[in-house]
Amino acid sequence: MWARHSMENETVKNEVFENPQPFNPDILANALKSSLFGKNIIFRDTIGSTNVFLKGLAQKGASEGTVVIADEQSAGLGRLGREWFSKKGENLLFSVLLRPELPPSKLFILTMIFALAGIDAVKDISGLNTMIKWPNDIYIGEKKLGGILTEFSVVQGVVQHLVLGMGLNVNWNPSTERTLLYPTSSLFAESQERVSREEILVNLLRRLEISYYEVGRDMERTEGFYEKWNKKSLILGKIVVIETGKECIEGKAAGIDRDGALTLITAGGDKRKFLCGDVSVKMNLSEQRNF
Ligand code: BTN
Repeated sequence: MWARHSMENETVKNEVFENPQPFNPDILANALKSSLFGKNIIFRDTIGSTNVFLKGLAQKGASEGTVVIADEQSAGLGRLGREWFSKKGENLLFSVLLRPELPPSKLFILTMIFALAGIDAVKDISGLNTMIKWPNDIYIGEKKLGGILTEFSVVQGVVQHLVLGMGLNVNWNPSTERTLLYPTSSLFAESQERVSREEILVNLLRRLEISYYEVGRDMERTEGFYEKWNKKSLILGKIVVIETGKECIEGKAAGIDRDGALTLITAGGDKRKFLCGDVSVKMNLSEQRNF
């Protein structure tokens, strides 16, 4: 998509990429003063990983709602032990700490409301429509815009803490970077407009707080989140291939259940459930068989 822009646009774009705006945590602190996520905001220029740092704080008793944000990570983590790469000062890299009173089997809903808060905040601030690719990627069209890493600690069946980490590509130009694992985009790449990272994060954290309290109030009345999540799912109804590390299965993505498990209907008509894995959509219709 970059190749189609005029030279004039190219100049503007390069200026934007060469002059990243430093993140201003005061904007966040002011906007979230009376919020769950405004009590303890920690910003670092550079950090290993916001998730790892926050897990360390959680073990030392940090309060629910603590937020860690960084302009750069030297050891950013993705799912399945992968690296999360992001250029300094251009994207959102943050983690939040929750201490939910939920059994471990019900925790998926928190990743779900985090992803929904992300796509709604992006829509509010940039006007762009994004989708969720199971289990926890944010996609724009066929390109990855962001990812979520959820980590939690359980002692004797009781959840001690849960860390939700998100990397969201905001003002970055992924096309100039080293080879990336997936087709990747950013809000700037899609809209040609610089987007305020602080504004997106404030919007997202406000939404997350509202949804989190809703989940806490009555776990049985959270159907709306599942419906919305399924509606915003990039893969539902499509023929996909899932790689679990042990096997590689093709099937039609039929739905995501309350535990976050993806149901696939295989060519033989079997129903298979998966709790984790890497999914790719078969874009080429001629590759699709009858399911
Ligand atoms: C994925 O798509 O594999 C998940 C990526 C999650 C990246 C974020 S960036 C902020 C937080 N800190 C980390 O080390 N990882 C998450």
